[in-house]
Amino acid sequence: MTAVGIDAIEIWTGNLKLDLPGTFAPEKGEDPEKYTKGLGLNASSFPDSYEDIVTMGANAAHRLMERKGLEPDDIGRIDVATESAFDNSKPVSTYVAGCLEQVFEGDFHHANKGERKFACIAGTQSLDDAYNWIRAGRNRGRSALVIATDTALYARGDAGEATQGAGAVAMLISEDPNLVELSAEQGYGSADETDFLKPNQQFPSVDGKRSVQVYLARMREALEDYESVAGDVHEEDFAYAPFHTPFPGMVRKAALLAYRHVIRDTSLEDDLADEIGRQPRPEAFDTDDDYRDALREYMDLLKETEAYQEWYAETIDPTLSISREVGNWYTGSVHVARASALKHALENGRDMTGKALLVASYGSGAQAEIHSEVVREGWEDEIEALNVDEQLEDRYDMSWDDYEEVHDVHNHDMDVDVEEFTTPESEFVFDGWGRMGERKYRYVE
Ligand code: CAA
Repeated sequence: MTAVGIDAIEIWTGNLKLDLPGTFAPEKGEDPEKYTKGLGLNASSFPDSYEDIVTMGANAAHRLMERKGLEPDDIGRIDVATESAFDNSKPVSTYVAGCLEQVFEGDFHHANKGERKFACIAGTQSLDDAYNWIRAGRNRGRSALVIATDTALYARGDAGEATQGAGAVAMLISEDPNLVELSAEQGYGSADETDFLKPNQQFPSVDGKRSVQVYLARMREALEDYESVAGDVHEEDFAYAPFHTPFPGMVRKAALLAYRHVIRDTSLEDDLADEIGRQPRPEAFDTDDDYRDALREYMDLLKETEAYQEWYAETIDPTLSISREVGNWYTGSVHVARASALKHALENGRDMTGKALLVASYGSGAQAEIHSEVVREGWEDEIEALNVDEQLEDRYDMSWDDYEEVHDVHNHDMDVDVEEFTTPESEFVFDGWGRMGERKYRYVE
């Protein structure tokens, strides 16, 4: 069977940056290490006044299509995953197609367009849709463009304010892909949860502490479900494990739980038993609380073992490097984590062809999905083409006053005019409102 997967990827960050330890922490009266060590974040990306989910998504897609030498006729499907949409009817993908038609010959009139919503997991669901469309033989030899784009802003003063971010990831899904092949096997953990939602409002209502627990619970279910179809997962099976990363501290918690799960009843658990004992089993305890206390104690010890720390440093930490500098990109976040991992491999001369990734996606509300990917022969060229380091370096570093203005300008309930902080160059910009309330866009040379 021909491989189907991600052929190419492009990342587009918002053009502004908020320094969390340097600018945010002092204003909040917090220790900077709460951000750098606790949450694991150095900075957040923000959109300048002329940027939004459409400009960032279209810019990522434009770069991707140009680099791959594609024309609109090569694309049979455009799906945008976002939880920052501004229209309940007209999908963001139509705006993106309109932007791209300004710079390419031809049009996307015969491409199927849509918008996917399930919080942060919608980017991965759009990959699934593209995969299924190709596997069903409905693509007529064409590729799918999947764009995950978000302005992940929280209300001022919300605990989530520290984890904001803005950016887009564009992915080309094709037969015989250059970057990774997607597995047919998937595992799901899904339940009706009220942890993070936006009932007809721009900024989320969040129960932050609960959202962390829901993430862990659904992820565990998804892993068990994945194992039921793909067989038991072992810690050495995967070169990297990119997780949805609302902030790196979240992944630190999830990775430890995953490690405990996969080493249970293995020779590694036996090897570690002399040092930290065996994992507590529920049947050995009279009450749930006793079991949980014992589990917590075991996890604290497990976290300190050399075996865990080495695995974490090799398999998880490299997936977090871009996220530390940009914050949460919601739908794009797990795809940023994959790119970070492969970038790390390239920079460290790691031969990845044929190696596997375990990809763990998550969306509040809530659903986790786990699948695996196999890295393809062309991966080095694809990752080498990314210019994410330059983009991050070029961001304008906002003062606190700038940040307050930028938050207001992107607040749909406010009507403020703010001078742009950066000068757009070779990119799409927001160009005001049309007569029916639509947003208009223009390409700036
Ligand atoms: N030095 C080192 N570490 C410090 C520190 C210091 N001075 N001060 C605090 N810390 C640590 C804390 O111990 C904590 O780490 P642990 O959880 O490992 O103990 C970490 O820094 C954060 O501190 P708090 O828990 O006190 O932070 P908070 O309550 O202000 O906010 C949050 C944390 C509730 C997660 C908040 O950021 C939030 O609401 N975020 C939005 C929701 C979210 O991202 N949830 C994640 C799961 S849901 C999801 O994944 C979907 C999505 O994208 C939104």
